Amino acid sequence: MTSDEGPCAVSALPQLGTRTLTTTCGAQRFAEGAGALCNLDAAANGERSVIAVGVQRPVWLRGCSSAPSGTLARTKRAILDELFGLLVQDQEDGLALRSTGTHSFLDDLTRAGKIRHYGVSVETVDEALKAIRYPNLETVQIIFNPFRLKPADRFFEEAAAKQVGIIVRVPLASGLLSGKLRRDSVFDPEDHRAFNREGQAFDKGETFSGVPYDLALSAVDDVRPLVPEGWTMAQFALRWILMWDAVSCTIPGARTVAQARENAAAAELPAITPEAMSAVRRIYSTRLAPVVHASW
Ligand SMILES: NC(=O)c1ccc[n+]([C@@H]2O[C@H](COP(=O)([O-])OP(=O)(O)OC[C@H]3O[C@@H](n4cnc5c(N)ncnc54)[C@H](OP(=O)(O)O)[C@@H]3O)[C@@H](O)[C@H]2O)c1
Repeated sequence: MTSDEGPCAVSALPQLGTRTLTTTCGAQRFAEGAGALCNLDAAANGERSVIAVGVQRPVWLRGCSSAPSGTLARTKRAILDELFGLLVQDQEDGLALRSTGTHSFLDDLTRAGKIRHYGVSVETVDEALKAIRYPNLETVQIIFNPFRLKPADRFFEEAAAKQVGIIVRVPLASGLLSGKLRRDSVFDPEDHRAFNREGQAFDKGETFSGVPYDLALSAVDDVRPLVPEGWTMAQFALRWILMWDAVSCTIPGARTVAQARENAAAAELPAITPEAMSAVRRIYSTRLAPVVHASW
């Protein structure tokens, strides 16, 4: 949540009636993220919300051994649900979670009762397949949406066989799959959609799922007729993701309370028809795969 409404939207989550997983990213923002999350335990439905905390660089991970305690204090919890690290190529450390030191650090935190589970966040299917070789790793966070089908083709079966949970991020292809973006949409200069379309700041696949903007808008128009009456396109995309058994949950980046409510409601919608599932596959295979499939 990045807008002023962010913390309010987080506080609204327990009232949504759906079990929620909320993530915060960045060791340097542990305190900020945890502050926004501290109301979650007031869940009206009595079911605890799950909190996952992200750490973006291995050096931060090592430097932040006291951070889980700080987060625990702010969330008034005795134990964090999940700590996940980004599996990245880091100049100093090599591929972050491939370093035994990092793994044993996470294992130590688990043994000490500070975290329940740990996982990684990856960019590519190849990284995901490497990550699940680690015996204690319990989740992989990966980009998956109607514009990014490779994980379903090459990773989901392996993850399910190892009982590794899949957390789907960027489910709306950075908002494209809400159907509201246009050729002339303007983004805040601080918004990655304004400055990272070509991967200038971080992996290109994080922005619009790596699909060139004009092509993506045209593919969105192909998806539009598949959205059942009474649903929004965002809900269609989220329900489409939940059609895959290997997926544990998805974490849409809602900017407002209304978006958070709409997104949570997608979990209660009926199954998408096989025809619509095939149509999405066709759009991906014919229009997008030639451009993006090899990259992630
Ligand atoms: N490596 C990592 O661990 C990593 C990296 C990136 C992201 N993430 C996490 O992944 C999650 C999603 O990432 P994301 O925010 O980039 O992608 P996303 O969920 O695909 O797109 C989020 C954007 O979609 C729009 N949106 C959301 N719900 C909507 C609705 N119901 N109706 C209309 N528009 C809606 C909003 O755009 P507007 O702002 O235009 O309204 C929002 O900013 C976030 O929780 C983020 O923290 C993790």
